[in-house]
Amino acid sequence: MKKLHIIGNWKMSLNRKDSLSLAKNICSINFNDHLNLEVAPTSLYISEIINILKDSNVNVISQNFDFESLGSFTGGICLDQMKELGVNKTILGHSERRSKFNESDEQINNKLKTILNSDFDVVYCFDSPEQIPFELIKNNLNDNSDLKLTIAYEPTWAIGTGKTASIEHIEEIHTKVKSNLKEIMLENIPILYGGSVNPTNSNEILNTNNVDGVLVGGASTKFDQLTGIVNSI
Ligand code: PGA
Repeated sequence: MKKLHIIGNWKMSLNRKDSLSLAKNICSINFNDHLNLEVAPTSLYISEIINILKDSNVNVISQNFDFESLGSFTGGICLDQMKELGVNKTILGHSERRSKFNESDEQINNKLKTILNSDFDVVYCFDSPEQIPFELIKNNLNDNSDLKLTIAYEPTWAIGTGKTASIEHIEEIHTKVKSNLKEIMLENIPILYGGSVNPTNSNEILNTNNVDGVLVGGASTKFDQLTGIVNSI
């Protein structure tokens, strides 16, 4: 049975009370070794969430990062600071970072290079396969561990809209990316799908060829929907 990944991206959707209570509920979810379950809360509460989930198998990751190390960057968050809190993985290049925070492909690729050369793991999001910097990945991915780099296909039009991509479309894109990865001998990199995943469509998506998991926004902030997705495997 292949390993599947479910990553809950809580974005800026929950206040402190709801974030902590969701994390407490998540402690009770039972799942086996074939599932890697991770959540990405806002960095403001990340320490508290890590503490709540410390005895569970749920990993807490960051939604983004700005720089590698400490420095004069007002409003920024760096890898060194996250590491101190026990965070060792981050999402990068989410379409909301690209469209609402104006992060360019170039900035995101620079950050990808930084993180591939750090001891952090990363979930790199893309909207169309042309965006993926395969050459950069090939030249900077030296760590062969399974989770160093995860790639997530997130069509912008499917994010938060309730419009999920068709299974045929998901399979076509994932297969194309997988074959590009094969060409650089990195076919083990997991490819997740994200965009309006919910308990009703998750089973079919997770059973699609070349889909190794899902990146879930809205549904991951509601305990019953998150458990519904976990139980749909
Ligand atoms: P959604 O968000 O599940 O609410 O569509 C997905 C994402 O942004 O990762």
